Amino acid sequence: MVASRSATTYDFPMKILFVCLGNICRSPTAEVVFREIAARDAPDLALEIESAGTAAYHVGAPPDTRTRQAALRRGYDMSALRARVVEPQDFRRFDLILAMDRQNLNALQQRAPATARDRIRLFLEFAPDADVTEVPDPYYGGPNGFEEVLDLVEAAARGLLQHLRSESRRSTWNSPPAP
Ligand code: 4NP
Repeated sequence: MVASRSATTYDFPMKILFVCLGNICRSPTAEVVFREIAARDAPDLALEIESAGTAAYHVGAPPDTRTRQAALRRGYDMSALRARVVEPQDFRRFDLILAMDRQNLNALQQRAPATARDRIRLFLEFAPDADVTEVPDPYYGGPNGFEEVLDLVEAAARGLLQHLRSESRRSTWNSPPAP
């Protein structure tokens, strides 16, 4: 019998996938911001962090120039990232799959096996004080859109890290047996 795994029973290293449409603006921003904040504020937390898109338009491309420049102004270097599309094995590999908006949440839910669906959530669930529940797509908008993405992603990254730290204190998954 295979034990079922819920979104609140975490195995560390915890594997987190951020997902948007093109994987050149929002989800790679979430990937670098969360990686940076986690390394700085919770260096002992074992994490694997990636991002992907539900559409394949930009596979292999670096993040959008406007995204890269806005991130760099806040100290986040995105130059090493390249876009990829969500693959079927991602639904087995990742413990949490965090969509930037409902369009991508729905696309993921449609592609995921039933056993993975409770691991797919909206990223902004972790930013309950934000006045929106989705990270708006900045691709066809003005420069303010890229700043808004960073503001929302930074808030949700802090909330996600707080959540994982409390889960890692609660988790007995990897603990040695009691004497
Ligand atoms: P992302 O933004 O989903 O945040 O990476 C977009 C990037 C490209 C397109 C749309 C959104 N596009 O239509 O090419």
